[in-house]
Amino acid sequence: MSASKSDFKKVTTNSVQEMKRNGEKISMLTAYDYTLAKIIDQAGIDVILVGDSASNVMAGHETTLPITLDQMIYHASSVVRAVDRALVVVDLPFGSYQGNSKEALSSAVKIMKETGGHAVKMEGGIEILTSIERILTAGIPVMGHLGLTPQSIYKFGTYTVRAKEEQEAEKLIADAKALEEAGCFALVLEKIPAQLAQQVAESISIPVIGIGAGAGVDGQVLVLHDMLGMTHEFHPRFLRRYLNLFEDITGAVQGYVRDVKAVDFPNDKEQY
Ligand code: KIV
Repeated sequence: MSASKSDFKKVTTNSVQEMKRNGEKISMLTAYDYTLAKIIDQAGIDVILVGDSASNVMAGHETTLPITLDQMIYHASSVVRAVDRALVVVDLPFGSYQGNSKEALSSAVKIMKETGGHAVKMEGGIEILTSIERILTAGIPVMGHLGLTPQSIYKFGTYTVRAKEEQEAEKLIADAKALEEAGCFALVLEKIPAQLAQQVAESISIPVIGIGAGAGVDGQVLVLHDMLGMTHEFHPRFLRRYLNLFEDITGAVQGYVRDVKAVDFPNDKEQY
């Protein structure tokens, strides 16, 4: 299998499952706006996650908890307008599905109706299974999310690696199996030991997409602004930066300020 993007004209939940069966790794990045979503879609990304990390990256909140359903809908509908090929998965935000399965279904339906997204993602295992099942029954594809689940940060107390202890690892394996059996089409594993992540990926048939979960899974996801080097104060071990846009943008803005102050911009050719 070549390392380049697959030939799917449009990536669907079925195509990502086919990629796992064919041994082709799945590429996934976050996006929250039209312009960047258009670039990464045209560059060949398989899956775009409209993550609730928009709460940190776009709005400057310390956690993902404050972002609302309506704010997620605003971001997701902007992304969907940009995308021709990628599968667009939208996070159900904190508080929009934990109450009960009826509330969870109505949040998922609102996302699907008002954004045009293709699937939702939900954090949690067996404890939210009833809600996941009800959403799946309505025909809405669900991506699970286990390991470090940032919506529960106040329960964990820290963003360190999860499931290092046997008991938590066993619960994670049981949760992953339950999500597969319920009918989730894929699963994100965040910040867990690589060996455990590989074990999960090998023991379930749905694609496992990792972030800080090593190379033995079926695909990788990163926050776009992190891998582009726009967020320069965040240095987790798993993050590979492909650009240093923080420095590039700073340099560009400083150049602009300099040119405006020096009346060097606009020049004769840049005016009417
Ligand atoms: O919201 C997000 O960006 C995520 C990824 C870290 C998987 O859930």
